Amino acid sequence: MSTLRDLAEEHTALRPADIDHLHRIAGDWQLLSDLSFADLLLWVPVDGDGTFLCVAQVRPTTAPTAYLDDQVGRIVGGAEVAHLEVAHRQGRIWREGDPVWYGDVPARHEAIPVRLRTGDGEAGEVIAVVGRDTNLSTARTPSQLELNYLTTADDLAQMIADGTFPPPRHPGETTSAPRVGDGLVRLDANGKVTYASPNAQSAYRRLGYASHLVGEDLAKLHRRLAGDPLEGTDAGNAVLAALRGEAPPRREIDARGATMLTRALPLMPAGVPIGALVLVRDITEVRRRDRALITKDATIREIHHRVKNNLQTVAALLRLQARRVAMPEARVALEESVRRVASIALVHETLSMSSDEAVEFDGIVDRVASAATEVAATEVSVGMRRRGTFGVLPAEIATSLVMVLNELLLNAVEHGFPPADEEADAPSPADAARPEAVVSAPRPEVVVSAHRARKQLHVTVTDNGRGLPERFDAERGGNLGLQIVRALVTGELRGTIDLRNGADGGTEAAIVVPLARGTTDRLTGRAGPP
Ligand SMILES: Nc1ncnc2c1ncn2[C@@H]1O[C@H](COP(=O)(O)OP(=O)(O)O)[C@@H](O)[C@H]1O
Ligand SMILES: [Mg+2]
Repeated sequence: MSTLRDLAEEHTALRPADIDHLHRIAGDWQLLSDLSFADLLLWVPVDGDGTFLCVAQVRPTTAPTAYLDDQVGRIVGGAEVAHLEVAHRQGRIWREGDPVWYGDVPARHEAIPVRLRTGDGEAGEVIAVVGRDTNLSTARTPSQLELNYLTTADDLAQMIADGTFPPPRHPGETTSAPRVGDGLVRLDANGKVTYASPNAQSAYRRLGYASHLVGEDLAKLHRRLAGDPLEGTDAGNAVLAALRGEAPPRREIDARGATMLTRALPLMPAGVPIGALVLVRDITEVRRRDRALITKDATIREIHHRVKNNLQTVAALLRLQARRVAMPEARVALEESVRRVASIALVHETLSMSSDEAVEFDGIVDRVASAATEVAATEVSVGMRRRGTFGVLPAEIATSLVMVLNELLLNAVEHGFPPADEEADAPSPADAARPEAVVSAPRPEVVVSAHRARKQLHVTVTDNGRGLPERFDAERGGNLGLQIVRALVTGELRGTIDLRNGADGGTEAAIVVPLARGTTDRLTGRAGPP
């Protein structure tokens, strides 16, 4: 379906500012539709040919619609739009016609000219017409509520013709709440309540005000309810601002554990401030749910924080034990465990600071990588580089992947660049014959690269070291480290790993991990179907 802007740009010569104003009307006119018990149709004159194009439509939530079909996009001329033509040409609200029939639905037509005020506050030209069409088939003797709604609707209709409705939008306010049906209060020019709908009366009762609202000074009442009789409260000031002809932002009143959202609108038909309209809505439940969610979020973060602390304690205990054992192999094994546990703690530390179950992974990789360089033999200094970015990863993927990278990085540093005496055990005959070749050997370096393609994360860990041992079984060979790597990659991560000698020497581990649901489904943090 075409948007208001598309239609207006295609068929009319309206300026961008005019179209913006029409957008603001369509953003705020549910209020007028509900108060009028009528459909509203926004018509713009099509250039030069006396026809009108409907660019927007809204149905009342308080009454049956006059149109079962959508009217947007219709271009109409002749007798059917004669009333629009009068409103457009004469710049006045037209309401003198007899009922018309749409099929078997009797309807009353009215037409409200739309003006956009000029920069110096003058009412400008008529740029469009709002058709207000009431379905009369259910017409009954109007109740007090209906009479009050209709009077207020007429004031707002006049303000559309004056160019003073809708009021400017406040930054960040996108909601049309509260609506008429949530609760409506009308004030006279002195700020005294002249009418309060039953829902409005109930909303104030929840805040602790049990008497009838009619006759109350609403600004004072708001101050009293908020327990702030001297200083003007926000919701009290908002009422006063509306009485002065301004349109303040929406405000909340908290009292007795209940919360009420208020929206105050000035009523100033023909430029005369005659009072204000205050829409109210009991949002206690909404706020309670908000608070529950915020607490739940904080709890999850707190748990990650504790898990991180506990893992760090475990790592510290293992480290203590490693210092005390005499057997070198046992010490090495314990030190490896320290690093494994510490790498998982890194993920939980990051999760404890994020707002959802997902982590910015690059920072974690960089920390694991720099920890790995510390295990390099004392005389070798290994450079670490990261190429590309991992992006944000769900917690589940992150925890497994950090362990995998920890093992691969440690292997690259430990086995790719062994200490000189170990290397001397198996000297390459060519190098031994030409010592200068050793001098010009490239600087030891490990590169971790990552990129995403087709919902997969591709990771490689490459070193320029001495390569895998001869006759190494890349599929099954290795000790605990590579066993952990394979189990995590093919199990938890449902991915693949390829361990091979690099093209220019050294070793390369290439991992592919599917992200299909892991990245989109950030709420559950699941990487795919279980
Ligand atoms: N980047 C590498 N460069 C050279 N050899 C490697 C590399 N990665 C793994 N290896 C070889 O694979 C073996 C198994 O590794 P791993 O399973 O992690 O056990 P560990 O590191 O305890 O020896 C290593 O001992 C080493 O011989
Ligand atoms: Mg290892």
